[in-house]
Formats: sequence, structure tokens, C-alpha cells
Amino acid sequence: MEITKICCIGAGYVGGPTMAVIAQKCPHIQVTVVDLNAERIEAWNDKDLSKIPIYEPGLDVIVGEARNRNLFFSTDVDKAIDEAQIIFISVNTPTKTYGKGKGMAADLKYIELCARQIGRVAKNNKIVVEKSTLPVRTAEAIKSILDNTGNGVQFQILSNPEFLAEGTAVQDLLNPDRILIGGDTTPEGQEAIHSLVQVYSNWVASDKILTTNVWSSELSKLTANAFLAQRISSINAISELCEKTGADVNEVSKAIGMDSRIGSKFLKASVGFGGSCFQKDILNLVYISKSYGLHQVADYWEQVIIMNDHQKSRFSSNILQTLYNTVSDKKITFLGWAFKKDTNDTRESAAIYVADDLINEHANIAVYDPKVTSKKIIDDLNYLESRSAAANAESVICYNDPYDACKDAHAIAILTEWDEFKAYNWQKIYDQMKKPAFIFDGRNLLDAAELEAIGFVYQAVGS
Ligand code: NAD
Ligand code: UDX
Repeated sequence: MEITKICCIGAGYVGGPTMAVIAQKCPHIQVTVVDLNAERIEAWNDKDLSKIPIYEPGLDVIVGEARNRNLFFSTDVDKAIDEAQIIFISVNTPTKTYGKGKGMAADLKYIELCARQIGRVAKNNKIVVEKSTLPVRTAEAIKSILDNTGNGVQFQILSNPEFLAEGTAVQDLLNPDRILIGGDTTPEGQEAIHSLVQVYSNWVASDKILTTNVWSSELSKLTANAFLAQRISSINAISELCEKTGADVNEVSKAIGMDSRIGSKFLKASVGFGGSCFQKDILNLVYISKSYGLHQVADYWEQVIIMNDHQKSRFSSNILQTLYNTVSDKKITFLGWAFKKDTNDTRESAAIYVADDLINEHANIAVYDPKVTSKKIIDDLNYLESRSAAANAESVICYNDPYDACKDAHAIAILTEWDEFKAYNWQKIYDQMKKPAFIFDGRNLLDAAELEAIGFVYQAVGS
């Protein structure tokens, strides 16, 4: 089937950029991205491209090119479903916060709502694509809902997980390592796979488009994230040992990464990984393993999360201990709040947990992040429910200028690896700080020798 109309439900970090790139690369396909969140859709339609709701390098240019040509953002979900031949489901699948599987399983309520809406609205055959990250065998549930609530039309369910990383989303979408498409082995399933392959073939080489059965595709996404996160927890575990033994974790990373069997990527020790995916997807993997009675498998992967939590709390404990065991009424400046550079996303950012620990010790937290708003920072802390919103607002001050943020601070903590931090006038910052002036570099970003020569007491992770 020649695809001319696509709809994507969910205009978030995945739906927005993914559909923008499909629209740019396939001018003959009309792509409509829909969301219940009217404010978000309004922002995607903002004439001022600097106001689109997701900050990703290069995204504004792509949206500017395709928007209102063949890329549309709308709140009219029914209309978009009705018109489309392929419907991507790209809604959020957070960790459940209630009931069975609380704190572990993926909450599939948004997925189910989409399936029911598609079932209700669709009047002709549709291909439904799981773009969200889902537990293995979710396609079965979606199929059952569609078949039982639909109008007698045929649905093919494909799994097409997204592997983009935030901050590099546009490049990842333009040059993906691979596109994974899982579908039924029936002739209809294979035909649906072929239709989606044709869409990606507009810009992705055929040897990079991998087709599998649905379950392999669903499980591969969780597995990829688990392997990536596992590498970070592994190197972070070694970072603690480095601090005790005089080894330097950056040197260890380099030495092991040059082994072609290990490879050099994802071996950067840090304050701990954040982001909306790694923790959620591993917890989901742990939950699925437990639900099949595979307790050793579950325990193995859960350790990746336990290590990450330890790394975050170890970072804040170290600040407390180094500042003579009290941070009460001391100004501690956070450079960076986003979970990584080049994004305005703060979900599960290590900064939130480190700040929470230090506020418990009565520290005054100053924050500067080039892309995160003060509202978001306070909302993130309020979401933890550790204290009242008023208490959070009293403990945290957000700055628009990094030099103001660092003035009179007892210590600086680097929480995000923004490039601009490397170019600061560190002498000027030092001159305006309380002495001794401490830097706790949670990203191993800055030059130790340069900072120590100025007079800073500098500590990086794992050295
Ligand atoms: P997000 O929260 O940024 O966006 C999801 C959007 O879906 C929201 O705007 C929400 O309003 C909308 N939505 C929810 N239910 C809806 C409904 N019934 N109808 C219409 N809109 C609805 O989430 P995200 O980061 O884009 O993640 C989406 C999925 O992609 C998740 O499963 C996630 O695990 C997966 N994923 C995320 C990333 C990433 O880097 N963020 C990467 C790969 C995969
Ligand atoms: C991740 C996966 O990389 C991506 O393929 C998937 O689609 C979604 O989840 P994302 O969370 O956006 O992407 O960013 P990623 O680059 O993986 O970083 C995740 C966290 O790990 C960040 O907090 C980052 O700072 C941290 N990290 C990454 C490290 O601490 N060390 C590293 O070596 C790499």
C-alpha cells in the first residue's frame, strides 16, 4: 500500500522530532501529530521557532521547513486517526505509581486509551505502530482491544521502537544505526511491515532496516536501554573503587574502551544516569522477568538501578562530608539541571536528587541551566514531595547568569555537561566565591589542573 497519510498520537520528545524528520524526508506524505495537551500543540505551532516545546539542536530548522507543508500539529485526534493509513502511538509509558506493579511496571493506561480511540474512530483498515517503548507482548493487548472495540475493520500492529537519544535526536533520526520493525509473520503482517519499510527507505539504507517478529522488536528496545545503562553503572561502580585506590576512572575508561570488544562509548563515569528512559525501562524489564518467575534475571538487572541510586547519593554525601560535614545555610551552586547537555528535559535528572539531599541538610541551592526554566526546576522538586512547595521555593534560587549564580557560593556542583561551562572565566568565578572554593564535577567535564592552579579544591567522579 502506498502511504500518503500518517498520524502520530503524542507530540512529545519522541513523537515531535520523529514525525518532523519523516515529514522532511517524505514530502509526499502528510504527517499529522496530535496530542491531548493543547498548550503543547500550540507551542509546536508557534510562529517563533525558538518557542517549540522541545529543545533539540537542528529541530527548529526541520520544523520550519516542513510545518504547514506536510507536517501538522493538532488537537483533533479523531480526525487524524480517521484520515491516516498508519497511526503511530508515541504516548508516554511511565512507571506505574499505583496498584499492582507500582514503582516497577509500565503504566499502559495512555496506550490503552489510544487503542480504544483508534478502535472507535477507524472506518477502514489501519496499520498501528507502537513507537512508545512497551513491555514485551503489549501488541497482543492492543490487538485484542482493537479487534473487540473496532468497527470490523482490519488492524495490523507493528512494533517500531525509537532509539534516538535526546540532545542528538535530529542526527540520530537522520542517520539511525538501525530501524527496527517487528510484525506478524502472516502475509498481512508482512505487507504492513513492507509499507513502513517503504516510508523509512526514503532516507535510510535498506541494510539498516531490520525486520523481526513483534516480540523480538518489543524486547530489543528494553534490552538496548538495559545494556546502555548497565555500562554506565559498571563504570560508576569502578569510579568508587578508583577513589579509594588512586586509580583514575577516566584513564581506566580509556584503557578498557580501546579493546574493540568493549568499545569506547557509554563509559563516562558521572553523578549517575538520568532521563525518562533508562530507569523506567529497566524497572519494566525487572518486573517482566519477575512476572515470569525469573528472579535471578530480575535481580541481575535491578542492580543497575541500585548502583545508579548509590552513585547519586554518594555524590551528595561527598559534598556534605567535604564541606566539613555541614552545608546548613551554605550556598551551593548547581551548574546544569537537565539530565544531559543539549536538552531542556529534566526527567529523572540526577540534579533533582542531589538537590533534594542537600536541601534536607538545609543548604541554599542556586541553579543555573541554559535551557531549563525556574518553574521546571521547582516543579521537579515539588514532584518528589519531600517538603512543602513553599519550603522548596525558599531553598532554591534560579539564576539567568552563571556568574551571579556562583557569587558567594561555598561550592559549585557540575550536574550537566553543557559545553559552555568549559569556556567560563573560572578565575572570575573563583574570586567571587567563599574560600576554600570547592568544585564537585559530576560530569568530569572541567580541567582539573587549570582549576587547581587558580586555587579551587576540585573533585571529579572517580579520581
Ligand atoms: P512525552 O511525555 O514527552 O510525550 C508523550 C505525549 O503523549 C504527551 O504530550 C501527552 O500529552 C501525549 N498523550 C498521552 N496520552 C495521549 C492520548 N491518549 N492522546 C493524545 N495524546 C496523548 O513522552 P516521550 O519522551 O515522547 O516518550 C514517548 C514514548 O517513547 C515512551 O514510551 C518512551 O519510553 C519512548 N521513548 C522515549 C525516548 C526519549 O528519549 N524521550 C526515546 C525512545 C523512546
Ligand atoms: C537513551 C538511549 O541512549 C536511547 O537510545 C533511547 O532511545 C532513550 O534512552 P537518552 O536517555 O535520551 O537516551 O540519553 P543518553 O545519551 O542515553 O543518556 C542517558 C543518561 O546517561 C544521561 O543522564 C547521560 O548523562 C548519562 N550518561 C551517558 C553517562 O552518565 N555516561 C555515559 O557514558 C553516557
